Amino acid sequence: MKAPIVHYAPTPRRLIKPMLDILNLSPEDVVFDLGCGDARLLIEAARRYGSRCVGIEIRSWLVKIARRRVLRSGVADKVDLIRADFFRVNLSHATAIILYLSTKVNEALKEKFDAELKEGTRIISLDFPIPGWIPDKVEAVHDGLRERKLYLYVFKKKRKI
Ligand SMILES: C[S@@+](CC[C@H](N)C(=O)[O-])C[C@H]1O[C@@H](n2cnc3c(N)ncnc32)[C@H](O)[C@@H]1O
Repeated sequence: MKAPIVHYAPTPRRLIKPMLDILNLSPEDVVFDLGCGDARLLIEAARRYGSRCVGIEIRSWLVKIARRRVLRSGVADKVDLIRADFFRVNLSHATAIILYLSTKVNEALKEKFDAELKEGTRIISLDFPIPGWIPDKVEAVHDGLRERKLYLYVFKKKRKI
């Protein structure tokens, strides 16, 4: 199945901290943002929690912006950026994954997650659940204009549904 294109919409600034806090990050974590945009979440993950980060972004103009921001942020040693389709990148090193995509893309990612993720990898998704998976936590957050939802999943190899 070819996943539909997801347009660029940056995570609102005031949601960055709650999204990262719910992942309970540490310097031992390897955080992947699938469709990282300008890398705002990864820069904060590296700064606040010392985590190693990998951003994958298909749009080259966004990768350029992300590279500039990472260089200026002082955490370039912790953040790697890859210009690619995330469906073609191996995710097996991730211990935490950030998604702000769509329900359809999350559905399309399930097979890849089942094949590549380690037991216990945390997945946070803004606004869109992973269809058919029961979230370990759902948190309502306010972005200043409206209420949004964060869905947290702790990946299990033998998920019942
Ligand atoms: C809604 S934006 C979220 C950006 C960023 N994660 C954030 O929260 O600020 C979704 C991003 O995913 C990127 N994207 C969509 N499909 C992709 C794919 N197959 N591979 C890599 N990036 C993709 C888009 O270009 C866009 O920048």
